[in-house]
Amino acid sequence: MKIAIVGTGYVGLTSGVCFSELGNEVVCVDVNAEKINQLNCGIMPIYEPGIKELVIKNKENKRLRFTTNLKEAVNRSEIIIIAVGTPSLLDGNVDLSYIFAVANEIGSYINNYKVIVNKSTVPVGTADDVKRIIFNNLVDKKIDFDVASVPEFLKEGSAIKDFFQTERVIIGTESNKARDLLVKLHKPLNSSIQTTDIRSAELIKYAANSFLAMKISFINEIANLAELVGADIKEVARGIGSDSRIGNKFLNAGIGFGGACFPKDTKGLVKIAEQVGLEFSLLQEVIHINERQYNVILDKLKLVIPDLKGKKLAILGLSFKPNTDDMRDAPSISIIRELMIMEPSLTIRAYDPIAIESAKTAIKDNVQYFYTIEGALQDADACIILTEWEQITSFSLDRYKQLLTSPIIIDGRNCFDSEDMDKAGINYLSIGRQNKVYSPL
Ligand code: UGA
Repeated sequence: MKIAIVGTGYVGLTSGVCFSELGNEVVCVDVNAEKINQLNCGIMPIYEPGIKELVIKNKENKRLRFTTNLKEAVNRSEIIIIAVGTPSLLDGNVDLSYIFAVANEIGSYINNYKVIVNKSTVPVGTADDVKRIIFNNLVDKKIDFDVASVPEFLKEGSAIKDFFQTERVIIGTESNKARDLLVKLHKPLNSSIQTTDIRSAELIKYAANSFLAMKISFINEIANLAELVGADIKEVARGIGSDSRIGNKFLNAGIGFGGACFPKDTKGLVKIAEQVGLEFSLLQEVIHINERQYNVILDKLKLVIPDLKGKKLAILGLSFKPNTDDMRDAPSISIIRELMIMEPSLTIRAYDPIAIESAKTAIKDNVQYFYTIEGALQDADACIILTEWEQITSFSLDRYKQLLTSPIIIDGRNCFDSEDMDKAGINYLSIGRQNKVYSPL
C-alpha cells in the first residue's frame, strides 16, 4: 500500500519505518528540512534501539523516503497518517494547532479517495474537526475521503518491538471502506484488531495511558505506606500482581512517571472530562501523587546527609526511563532543581549513557556531566539513581563502594537487592523498602 506519514517524531518515524518493513511504500513528511536531510543521510533525530538499521534497510529497498513535499506525498498515497505533536498547553489543554495546520494542507492537496488517519493523541472529537477542515479545503467538493483514528501504543525505548509485537490494534472509522483498508494494512501484524467508532478509539488511547499512570501512582503510594508500616513494596507488588485481574506490569514503585505521554495525557483527559462537565477527581489525584513523588529522594538524602553544604552528589541516569535520550518531563529535572534550591553549594556530578546532550538543554542548573559511571562517582559523598539503565544496575557494588567517599546509594528505581547492599556494606535507601541507615554523615 502507498502510505504518507506526516510528522517524523517518535510516533511518525517509528510507524513509517515499520510499515515500510511490512512491505508498504512509505513516504515520511516533515516541515523541518534539516531533519529530513539528516534522515536522508541516515542520521536519526531520536535515540531508539533498532530504528537506524531499519531506516537504512528500507531506504535501500526503495520502500521508504523522506521529504518536505506534503503535496506530492498526499497525491501518491491512499492512506495518510497524521503523527504530528500535540503538546500540552499551560492550562493542561491539548495544543491541536499542528494537527489542524496539517489537515488544512491535506484538504487542499487531495486529488482522489484517501483515508486520513489520526495517530497523534488527540481529544475525543478531534477527528470531526479534522474532517470539517479537510472538507472546507477541498478543491473539488465531490472528492470522497474518510477520517479515522488508529492510536499508537508504542513505548519509547522498545518502539520497534512494540510495533511488531503489539497486543492489539484499535481502528476507529465511520465507513466500511476505510475500516477494510486499515484492517488490511494492519493484518500482517497478526495481533488482535478491534474495529470501533472514531470517538471510542480516541478515548481508548487516553484511557489506556491514564490507567497505566494510575497503576504507577497507586503502587508509589502503597510504597510510601509500605515504608511506614514496615513492609516491602517488591513483595507487595509481587503479591498483588500475580492476581491476573491486577496484572504484574507497571507496578514498579519509584520516583514517578515522566516522558512525553503520561504527564500530558493524564492532564489532557482531566480537561476532556472537565469540558463535558465531569470532574475526574481520581485522575487528578493520580497526577497529584506523581507530582510530589520525587520528593522521596530529597527526604532520604536529608536523612543520611542532614548538612548538604559543599557536598558532592553523583546522579546516575537522567532520561525519563532507560533506552531513550528523551528528557521530556524526566523526574531528574525536578530533582536536580530542588537539590540546588535546597543547597546551592552542592556539586552535581551527573551520568547518563545516552541522554547527556538532551539533558544539557533540559536541565537549567549547573551540573557537571560525565560519560562514565566511574567519573560521576569519583569522590562523591553519595549516589542517587534516577534511571534504571542496564549500565547502572550491572555496575559492581564493590566499585560503587570504592569510588564513593562514603558508601551511600539512594535508589529511586529499586534496582538492587537490599541484602546484597547490606553485604557490600553500603548505606542503601530505596523506595518502599526498609532502609538501613548506619550512620548519617
Ligand atoms: C507510554 C505507554 O506505555 C505507551 O503504551 C504509549 O504508546 C506511549 O506512552 C504514548 O502515549 O506514546 P512511554 O511514555 O514511552 O509509553 O513509557 P513507559 O514505559 O510507559 O513509561 C512511562 C513512565 O512511567 C516512565 O517514566 C517510567 O519510568 C514510569 N514507570 C513505568 C514507572 O514508574 N513504573 C512502572 O512500573 C512503569
